[in-house]
Amino acid sequence: MKRVITYGTFDLLHYGHVNLLQRAKALGDYLIVAISTDEFNWDMKGKKCYFSYDERKRLVEAIRYVDLVIPEESWEQKVSDAREYHIDTFVIGDDWEGKFDFLKDEGVEVVYLARTPEISTTQIKKDLNTDNK
Ligand code: CTP
Repeated sequence: MKRVITYGTFDLLHYGHVNLLQRAKALGDYLIVAISTDEFNWDMKGKKCYFSYDERKRLVEAIRYVDLVIPEESWEQKVSDAREYHIDTFVIGDDWEGKFDFLKDEGVEVVYLARTPEISTTQIKKDLNTDNK
């Protein structure tokens, strides 16, 4: 069984996320999604989520391509997760191109997927703030 892992915030779940998760699952048989906790988002990424970790987790768990959701609490956990969950493939959008190549040293295949154009959580927040009714 080929085990795939991906990481992200997944706030205000949108079709760019679903496309990413569908293509991630297609790379193997079992897909683990590590979702940033509220603390990690705030402390490390300077982002405040609209949906709480528990809400984002429930939404991502409801996607048919996802087999398991775990919390992402630090930058360093990728190596320990790879070992603990016997990961074959690490996948993430190409906004992170080259950033996680060090996982290859763990024997993990590293794949960067093209992002879906013209959609992001940031864009949704921006659009909803604009008076365009
Ligand atoms: N992603 C994607 N296509 C998009 C948006 C996101 O493939 N249009 C991917 C990212 O590359 C990442 C995963 O979805 O692998 C989770 O991304 P996340 O940062 O949670 O979503 P964004 O919409 O990019 O959020 P933000 O605007 O806050 O950066």
